[in-house]
Amino acid sequence: MPAFANPFQGNVDRKMTKEELIQAVRLDIAGELEAIYVYDAHVQATSEEIAKKVLADIRDEEKSHVGELMTLLRILDPKEAELFFAGETEVKEMLEDLGLSTNSVEQTSATSGLETVGGLTNQ
Ligand SMILES: [Fe+2]
Repeated sequence: MPAFANPFQGNVDRKMTKEELIQAVRLDIAGELEAIYVYDAHVQATSEEIAKKVLADIRDEEKSHVGELMTLLRILDPKEAELFFAGETEVKEMLEDLGLSTNSVEQTSATSGLETVGGLTNQ
């Protein structure tokens, strides 16, 4: 959440090392995830249609920011990118064990009419 009491809080008198930049990007990702959580909570907590629409739009822009930052993190730290990929592979193997596959929600709902749970469909 905002911490405006000290206007110099975010300033540093030197450039970051690459390791510090990687840590900063991780912190930035955490900030985006927190923003998504808060905007979504506000969407769920109001019945004002225009507020829901605006806040949901902002929430979804924050999700795009997560994607940008994750991509940046993968570029800055290829070793970490390998670990992300390893985790994705593990989940895909679990899906195969369950007889499920991943599809985008838009793709499954728009083209197949299949019921989905978080973008998962039965094969
Ligand atoms: Fe953002």
